[in-house]
Amino acid sequence: MNKEIKMRQGLKARVANMDSTKLYNSYDVIGDIAVIKTPSNDVENAKKAAEAIIKIYHNRVKAVFMQTSAVHGSFRVRHLEFLSGENRTITIYKEHGCFFKVDVECCYISPRLLFEHKRIPALVAQGEVIVNMFSGVGCFSILMAKIPNTKVYSIDVNPAAYEFMRENVRLNNVSGSVVPLLGDSKEVVISQLCGIADRVLMPLPELALEYLPYAILALKRSGGCIHYFDFQHATKCEDPIEKSCQKIVKCLDTLGVTYHIDFSRVIRSIGPFWYQTVLDISVSGLK
Ligand SMILES: C[S@@+](CC[C@H](N)C(=O)[O-])C[C@H]1O[C@@H](n2cnc3c(N)ncnc32)[C@H](O)[C@@H]1O
Repeated sequence: MNKEIKMRQGLKARVANMDSTKLYNSYDVIGDIAVIKTPSNDVENAKKAAEAIIKIYHNRVKAVFMQTSAVHGSFRVRHLEFLSGENRTITIYKEHGCFFKVDVECCYISPRLLFEHKRIPALVAQGEVIVNMFSGVGCFSILMAKIPNTKVYSIDVNPAAYEFMRENVRLNNVSGSVVPLLGDSKEVVISQLCGIADRVLMPLPELALEYLPYAILALKRSGGCIHYFDFQHATKCEDPIEKSCQKIVKCLDTLGVTYHIDFSRVIRSIGPFWYQTVLDISVSGLK
């Protein structure tokens, strides 16, 4: 059995008066910091869970926080309340052989993108030029920069995420391949990155549709691939992927481009009848 699953199951036994099924999936471990979510911000039970997490993950988790707000605002950050261990929010998160220094309170980071962080870099060919429109602290950008001769323009509007991204680029020895850029990706594309990319990443569902024309603007005139992330509501009778596809059709038809959805998947469920999806869109016929 996977070590992580074992730890989560072990936690059930230690926190008897919490709903164990909810607890099992209600925390993320980022580096040596755990972040717990409880439906009603129940501090007393969260503290018990925090102490149990520190014991179960001994030496691995050194600080536990409770998330007291949804991920919000244009920087996609969340409020945290200290529960147990060391009172600090900076850590180093390791994924797929890379290191990402991050302040979990003032930057976005999610281990729930683990699979996509592996899947998308695996599609990158040597020598590609990539634009990452919403980079955060640089996870996708750095993992893609490990492919020989790639150039990744890595944009974020949050100055804290940008500073960590710069540090992570150095930490992972990809300084020649990643170009960190601070600003609104729409403006950065218009001013510096038109017609240069083989691949564009849009890992911000909230802005993806509005910024899709700028992703197309960034692509080479010979075409390329866009990784489009979406949030989609779907009832039991509906397919979230189909709804994500319908959403982009109008925009792409208006722009008069030829496109094909090469791949799509539901990344995760984010609430009752709500899903995060990703579409890999091949675009050609650019003027
Ligand atoms: C969901 S996070 C990205 C996660 C990241 N790709 C990862 O794998 O960890 C979205 C990021 O987009 C940034 N952002 C929001 N609006 C933006 C904009 N207009 N231009 C550039 N970046 C933006 C936020 O600051 C945030 O870091």
